[in-house]
Amino acid sequence: MAKKIGILTAGGDCPGLNAAIRGVAKTAIVEYGMEVIGFSSGFKGLIEKEYMVLDEKSVSGILTLGGTILGTSREKPFKKVNPDDMEEDTKTQQIIDNYNQLGLDCLVCIGGNGTIKNAYKLSQIGLNIIGIPKTIDNDVWGTDRTFGFDSAVAICTDAIDKLHTTGNSHKRIMVIEVMGHNAGWIALYAGIAGGGDVILIPEIEYDLQIIAKYLADRHAKGKPVSIVVAAEGVKHGKKKSPGPYLAKKIEELTGIETRETVLGYIQRGGTPTATDRILATRYGRYAAELIATEQYNQMVAFKDNVIISIPLAETSGKLKVVEPDNKLIKSARALGVCFGDELCKIK
Ligand code: F6P
Repeated sequence: MAKKIGILTAGGDCPGLNAAIRGVAKTAIVEYGMEVIGFSSGFKGLIEKEYMVLDEKSVSGILTLGGTILGTSREKPFKKVNPDDMEEDTKTQQIIDNYNQLGLDCLVCIGGNGTIKNAYKLSQIGLNIIGIPKTIDNDVWGTDRTFGFDSAVAICTDAIDKLHTTGNSHKRIMVIEVMGHNAGWIALYAGIAGGGDVILIPEIEYDLQIIAKYLADRHAKGKPVSIVVAAEGVKHGKKKSPGPYLAKKIEELTGIETRETVLGYIQRGGTPTATDRILATRYGRYAAELIATEQYNQMVAFKDNVIISIPLAETSGKLKVVEPDNKLIKSARALGVCFGDELCKIK
């Protein structure tokens, strides 16, 4: 009996989502003769039974398309509207009924930590689930890489390149705030790729005095232009966005003209890089194979250049942060990059 599967994309969008949808759907249809539907707007579509049939035609030409043809949302299927209202049920019964009425054999959830966590919970109430790790933040535990990350790093690196030219013209310090709420992977990778002089990530506490001294030192040695790359999740009092705060403080402490750029949602837009297209396609294909062989309740992952699967129970939304002894940090420090802490080299 040919299987029938559902796909949903949830959480923050990113380039590569359509490549993943295409990877699952085309493999399921062409290789395994399955029926495929796609729920709209993440878990919201599953709760409200809003979906579209995905056939070869509907996934044709979407590999290079940014965003997600299914739409996404941050709808939380297990969150009650009034948490203290014991009567109010979560949407789980609707989800179970819809899954069964549609005759699904499996649901593919493509998303970040929150999505993977909800996917695991759905597997615990009886749905067959496959998770595919997606986020520009690259902070899903259990996989070396989420798709969306490479595209975001490419966008940030291009932005930093542009800040070098305008900084050079004005002899300014340029601060760029990049995404990465809980983990500093984008700031770390784009900071190195873009030649950042100071890289600030949530995992390493920074001292403004050390940063100011390092930048003033560079200036005194005839290097007036510096690039500071900061993840949006670095601590700075109660304020939301560290970019403007850091620029103001650095200018006050060093007396050097400093300007900030908050890159924002540009990092989530546009067409996926080739790397993300390939990774998303490999994830999608493998997800379809796991379903065909009834290896449910797994998350596909990328480990040492091989696509594997790990039990959802093992990941269930755990965070993967930049470890303190990360090799890239070591390399950057050897080049004299400052991470705002006491290991920052100030001659
Ligand atoms: O999780 C990806 C991400 O882009 C984070 O880097 C960012 O902090 C968050 O989503 C923004 O969320 P939203 O799109 O809901 O504003």
